[in-house]
Amino acid sequence: MIILGIETSCDETAAAVVENGRRILSSVVLSQTEVHHPYGGVVPELASRKHIEAIVPVVKEAIKSSDIGSDRLDAIAVTRGPGLIGSLLVGFSFAKAYAFALGIPWTGVNHLEGHINSVFLEPDPPPFPFISLLASGGHTGIYYVDSYTKMELMGQTRDDAAGEAFDKVAKMLGLGYPGGSIIGKTAEKGDPLKINFPRTYLDKSGFDFSFSGIKTSVSRFIQTHADEYKDMIPDIAAGFQEAVTDVLSYKLINAAKQRGCEHISIAGGVAANKRLREKINIEAGLFGMKAHIPAPSLCGDNAAMIAAAGYHGLIKGITQDLNLDVFSRTL
Ligand code: KG4
Ligand code: ZN
Repeated sequence: MIILGIETSCDETAAAVVENGRRILSSVVLSQTEVHHPYGGVVPELASRKHIEAIVPVVKEAIKSSDIGSDRLDAIAVTRGPGLIGSLLVGFSFAKAYAFALGIPWTGVNHLEGHINSVFLEPDPPPFPFISLLASGGHTGIYYVDSYTKMELMGQTRDDAAGEAFDKVAKMLGLGYPGGSIIGKTAEKGDPLKINFPRTYLDKSGFDFSFSGIKTSVSRFIQTHADEYKDMIPDIAAGFQEAVTDVLSYKLINAAKQRGCEHISIAGGVAANKRLREKINIEAGLFGMKAHIPAPSLCGDNAAMIAAAGYHGLIKGITQDLNLDVFSRTL
């Protein structure tokens, strides 16, 4: 089954062609970073406008570079939510209209399930059940994944998402947007042990997160070192990254221990973080587990993961009619 995936939930316009939920024939991601950069974050109205401009060329490019014609598409899978309503509507309405015009079925996909499914696009995916840490700009949670479509949320952030904390700290340090990858690069030049930022574990045996404390702590550090903090930016970035990745990896490993899972995975934009990937590989080895880590290009928003997630409903004949709508928050 050849599926066209479409993703427009935030600031990436993406389309991909994926075979049988596993083999990527093409994947195009058009990032709007430059549009939002001057504002230090995503401006929803600008994002929707850019999606409208980009959706047709991006889908055309995905079909062209897959080397198959649109007549070979069997179905369309599109992100339904959560995300920015105006942005979601662009991809969603396009997908409905295109599926109608081609006379093929279509399905709406939960963006978070899409992220978790990104690991199945890799050659060595985990067997079920496994534990997945999903850390993105809007969500941070730990999931017990029982099948492609059955995922139990074991715990999630009570305030900021991990990626949001990266973005806010980058902004405080004047590093710009998007913050995650810039903090990652800046941290490589710093000493992670020089500044000890707090690790917020909440209940250490539970799986909820809180990242607002560390953000405040970085802000206070900047205020109390107003004269010299500019020379310490790499150490601040490294100290912050070390604290956040300590908590993320601890909870992931602990969840796997508690549920007796030997296989773990990570997903979402923050999963592209080098230090997090390193730590999870090391810790998995220490506890006799196997870490399945998608390529960085599959961690950030993309449409291949949406096609992969949509496939499992579509092969069972689950399709949607044109009345279905998008949603902004998790249902
Ligand atoms: O999954 P994603 O592309 O979009 C959402 O669904 O939110 O995640 C974006 C988030 C942003 O907050 C970004 O700063 C963060 O992922 N991110 C990173 C890195 N690359 C992206 N955070 C830490 N280290 C990175 N290398
Ligand atoms: Zn995402």
